[in-house]
Amino acid sequence: MAPHFVSRLLLIVLAGASVLFLATAQNTTAQNGTFDPLKYVNQLIGTNNGGNVFAGATLPYGMAKAVADVDGQNTGGFSTDQSNVVGFSHMHDSGTGGNPSLGNFPLFPQYCPGDVLDNCNFLREARATKYKLESVVATPGYFALELGSGIKAEMTVTEHAALYHFTFPTSTSASGTNPLILLDLTDLNASRQNATVSVDEDGRIKGNGTFIPSFGSGSFMLYFCADFQGATIKDTGIWVNNRAGTEPKSIFVTRGINLFYLEAGSWVQFERPSNGVISARVGVSFISTDQACQNAEQEISDAEWDFAGIKKTAEDAWREKLNVVSIDSGGASQDLITNFYSSIYRTMMSPQNYTGENPLWESSEPYFDSFYCIWDLFRSQLPFLTIVDPNTLTSIIRSLLDTYKHLGWLPDCRMSLCKGFTQGGSNADVVLADAYVKNLTSSSPSSTIDWELAYQAVLNDAENEPIDWSNEGRGGLMSWKALNYIPYLDYDYLGFGTNSRSISRTLEYSYNDFSLATIAKGLGKEDEYTKYMARSTNWQNLWKSDTKSAINGKDTGFTGFFQPKYLNGTWGSMDPIACSPLAGFCSLTSNPQETFEDSIWEYQFYVPHAMPQLITLSGGNAAFISRLQFLHTSGLTNIGNEPSFLTSFLYHYASRPGLSSYQVHQYVPSLFNDTTIGLPGNDDSGAMASFTAFIMMGLFPNPGQNIYFITAPYFASISITSPITGKTAVIKSTNFDPTYQRIYIQNATLDGKPYTKSWIGHELFTEGGTLELTLGANESSTWGTSTGDLPPTVVVGTQEEYGGEMRF
Ligand SMILES: *[C@@H]1O[C@H](CO)[C@@H](O)[C@H](O)[C@H]1NC(C)=O
Ligand SMILES: *[C@@H]1O[C@H](CO)[C@@H](O)[C@H](O)[C@H]1NC(C)=O
Ligand SMILES: *[C@@H]1O[C@H](CO)[C@@H](O)[C@H](O)[C@H]1NC(C)=O
Ligand SMILES: *[C@@H]1O[C@H](CO)[C@@H](O)[C@H](O)[C@H]1NC(C)=O
Ligand SMILES: *[C@@H]1O[C@H](CO)[C@@H](O)[C@H](O)[C@H]1NC(C)=O
Ligand SMILES: *[C@@H]1O[C@H](CO)[C@@H](O)[C@H](O)[C@H]1NC(C)=O
Ligand SMILES: *[C@@H]1O[C@H](CO)[C@@H](O)[C@H](O)[C@H]1NC(C)=O
Ligand SMILES: *[C@@H]1O[C@H](CO)[C@@H](O)[C@H](O)[C@H]1NC(C)=O
Ligand SMILES: *[C@@H]1O[C@H](CO)[C@@H](O)[C@H](O)[C@H]1NC(C)=O
Ligand SMILES: *[C@@H]1O[C@H](CO)[C@@H](O)[C@H](O)[C@H]1NC(C)=O
Ligand SMILES: *[C@@H]1O[C@H](CO)[C@@H](O)[C@H](O)[C@H]1NC(C)=O
Repeated sequence: MAPHFVSRLLLIVLAGASVLFLATAQNTTAQNGTFDPLKYVNQLIGTNNGGNVFAGATLPYGMAKAVADVDGQNTGGFSTDQSNVVGFSHMHDSGTGGNPSLGNFPLFPQYCPGDVLDNCNFLREARATKYKLESVVATPGYFALELGSGIKAEMTVTEHAALYHFTFPTSTSASGTNPLILLDLTDLNASRQNATVSVDEDGRIKGNGTFIPSFGSGSFMLYFCADFQGATIKDTGIWVNNRAGTEPKSIFVTRGINLFYLEAGSWVQFERPSNGVISARVGVSFISTDQACQNAEQEISDAEWDFAGIKKTAEDAWREKLNVVSIDSGGASQDLITNFYSSIYRTMMSPQNYTGENPLWESSEPYFDSFYCIWDLFRSQLPFLTIVDPNTLTSIIRSLLDTYKHLGWLPDCRMSLCKGFTQGGSNADVVLADAYVKNLTSSSPSSTIDWELAYQAVLNDAENEPIDWSNEGRGGLMSWKALNYIPYLDYDYLGFGTNSRSISRTLEYSYNDFSLATIAKGLGKEDEYTKYMARSTNWQNLWKSDTKSAINGKDTGFTGFFQPKYLNGTWGSMDPIACSPLAGFCSLTSNPQETFEDSIWEYQFYVPHAMPQLITLSGGNAAFISRLQFLHTSGLTNIGNEPSFLTSFLYHYASRPGLSSYQVHQYVPSLFNDTTIGLPGNDDSGAMASFTAFIMMGLFPNPGQNIYFITAPYFASISITSPITGKTAVIKSTNFDPTYQRIYIQNATLDGKPYTKSWIGHELFTEGGTLELTLGANESSTWGTSTGDLPPTVVVGTQEEYGGEMRF
């Protein structure tokens, strides 16, 4: 560990010149003088207004994710939208944009008026109950709220089990005196096909069900095992529709006539304990009911089900993950510190660790699931983990490769053991290339990545077309190889998929081939490198140099855009603003077009490996800058969707790194902040979170390349200690300004030596170092502006490098 890092706390105190800063310094330091990042995690960010963030209790990458489920914005289970609570369930996804995900087998606590069983509300709609907004408490490993009924619910988790405390208020006989807890054989989206439940005299409820994944094909089986403690059991039974009985003790339900959804489950009624608290322990498993019971018994094993101890274990797990990053805020507001640590926290919701829970194949490799979707995750979330959690990312990548080995394809989207829908290219290729150029490895010599296998997996995406490329791989490979673009209305009898997005797929496939070339080069496969570098230039074939773009009939003044092209080489036509926020959304199923979820205007910049060539086609640096500025100011971009991420940093390639600093400060915190509505779109696992965290650090990756663009950080100093090498990277600012008037880098040093490049490599993190930036109020005309200081690009054909050296 570098010496300046050991004295970090001392530095914070010494540097605390202003009153504001002293207050901040005090608050970033725990009572005993140790910084506790958990104080800065606000799990309610993005729990309203479509962020779909999971607010509940989870371990990092945990499979068990417990929270209250509402009937309003419930994609991630809970929302601060003040809708009604319909249950408390044990598994969720975070920030996703498909149908509401998971939420299987919810519990619901209540009193039955007059203690008459049939007076209880069994159906989801009937039992829906308001919660008290001010009662919501969400901290790492913990979630609690109080229902309008006065019943309080608290929850914490282990890897595969959830532990609940339901506190029942003292009650009158009119409202009932004997608490009842039901279990519903459903999930958030009522996707259950058929299910079985049984309850025994000890009140153990167990069962299983078949469900449909929220954005994918097929179905999956999930098993659970619920036990109760703290109260004497009065009776048990099952319920169907809105009626319940004590006999029989088990039931099988399937879909009714016309696939009608039958509501059913089990229940346990108790005598109210004097302290009112009934504990419920629920184990889950994808393997069997027995394994669900074992998971619960092994992970919550002590006789008393130590809630506080389990919560503390979860807190410690989070502390260990978040302690990798420390800051000297320099007077930045508490809101920004909270935004930063909460964002880092959310990058570790998913993928989820289902190792030991995969029924699909036998393997000793790790198994991760909930890649939801790689189209979102490859841009910054998985690259962020390369820095803060390389050990887990190594496991995640081994899991991707094992999935390739057993299913024949790298996943693009994957949830609940099922294949998800592909959105564009085969972007796991970029994930692998990014890890490759950053030499990703883990602390354990026995856990490394098989790069030859990785190469085969990426090569498979590039060469072989699956019959169903809605689920994996790429479509249109015959045309890709013969014509060097994906044609509009392609003729493709090899495989089937959503036959749209010919422009965005051409762009993404080009970059996917570049990723393949990158790995090939590293492995010494020169011929393959040359072949796929040539294919990575295919994007050029859809550039139509005379296309213009108008908004409401008014010419934007730019000429030259991507356009669709038929098989016979004739140009088709698509309005460059179509699919932008100005013209209406395009998805796979609603309004599919030649670009996916964004416009030609946005996608014109998606050539991450060939920016100098794109700048030339765009009319040179000045014209390119004007295009970028127009994109960001005209309403054409939606920063709440992932294709826009990289466009905030591309000014770097046109010798104006200061404009990238300016651009990101337009978005964070005004559109990415620490409020419940603080996300402009779905978090998408933790994609938006990683975008925010990177921006606040002053770095952003060009994924698949060993490049981080440097912009002005949001704190005076940020230190990241590599969990692998123990070396610390420090990014600090001289002239730091917490009011962000000074956001332009004037000059920089790396370990005390002048550093003029506008980018830096991953070595900063693995080898450690101090990048010191001097900030000013005006854009510098010199720093990062000369050709040799630009982010590097290989010019295809010549093997020359444009911009800086590939190594730093
Ligand atoms: C710091 O914490 C104290 C006490 O916990 C609080 O009163 C104060 O408002 C906090 N300061 C800032 C800047 O948030
Ligand atoms: C300080 O508090 C942290 C976090 O609660 C704890 O892990 C650590 O052991 C404490 N250190 C001392 C010296 O008490
Ligand atoms: C399932 O999700 C879709 C939205 O994606 C929604 O329209 C539908 O109502 C949901 N169904 C249920 C039963 O929640
Ligand atoms: C349950 O539903 C699934 C999916 O519809 C089906 O494959 C399976 O055979 C069903 N099982 C039973 C026992 O009906
Ligand atoms: C589902 O659970 C029921 C009741 O515990 C059990 O009889 C049945 O075998 C289980 N089904 C599967 C596929 O494990
Ligand atoms: C994933 O889960 C398995 C089984 O619980 C555990 O052994 C492994 O350490 C976990 N992997 C990571 C990276 O946390
Ligand atoms: C990866 O390893 C190579 C060869 O040892 C080295 O030159 C390069 O700097 C390393 N890259 C990173 C990002 O650590
Ligand atoms: C190419 O194909 C398109 C679509 O079928 C057609 O409209 C166009 O006329 C063709 N061009 C030529 C030169 O045949
Ligand atoms: C926080 O972000 C949301 C969503 O992007 C935005 O609507 C809101 O105005 C922002 N709030 C603040 C205080 O900046
Ligand atoms: C960096 O820029 C600042 C402000 O322009 C100047 O005071 C300082 O001398 C410069 N340092 C170097 C190493 O060029
Ligand atoms: C900085 O920019 C402001 C206007 O934005 C201008 O008034 C001022 O003269 C500039 N300062 C320098 C040193 O160029």
